[in-house]
Amino acid sequence: MPTVVKADITTLQVDAIVNAANNSLLGGGGVDGAIHRAAGPDLLNECRKLGGCATGDAKITKGCRLPAKYVIHTVGPVWHGGSRGEAELLASCYRRSLELASGAGVKSIAFPSISTGVYGYPVEQAAKIAVSTVLEELVKYPGIEEVLFCCFSEGDRAVYDKLLSQLSPFMEGV
Ligand code: AR6
Repeated sequence: MPTVVKADITTLQVDAIVNAANNSLLGGGGVDGAIHRAAGPDLLNECRKLGGCATGDAKITKGCRLPAKYVIHTVGPVWHGGSRGEAELLASCYRRSLELASGAGVKSIAFPSISTGVYGYPVEQAAKIAVSTVLEELVKYPGIEEVLFCCFSEGDRAVYDKLLSQLSPFMEGV
């Protein structure tokens, strides 16, 4: 069963952390900026070779100076009101990230709240997609033993906690 933490994702001792990046994969603000600062310049050098990333897709690099072994860079949708396929694109970020994580043998992974900062996705709606998509997909990947939803504020943590406590009675054994 996934758990919720309030933390700076760059400090987490997990096999992989997920980055809420942009299409260039060349860094930015928010969690992306924090990850590049903590990982050091080798991360940018590796990202330059990836040729960017489509919205809803993900690419994997090493974690460089981070405690995490890998960074999975995914690009969430910009919120335009919900009628431009945002929900499907956001779900795809979680699906692709888990797929890449599993392929790399990752046992523990932490997700930030993708798209809910600069990209403006309302956190209640985004968290529902995050939690439901991860729960649906995890059954395919028995090697992934631990999933953390890493929140950066108490408010976001409360949103994720509530969703997981509503769903947990139906998810015995996940
Ligand atoms: N650890 C965990 N979560 C964090 C951290 C951190 N160190 N820093 C911020 N957050 P955002 P987006 C939370 O804006 O909305 C970048 O410039 C933050 O509070 O980082 O997907 C990229 O290059 C929020 O809950 O990502 C793109 O251009 C969540 O991370 C654009 O922002 C996501 O906020 C992507 O926007």
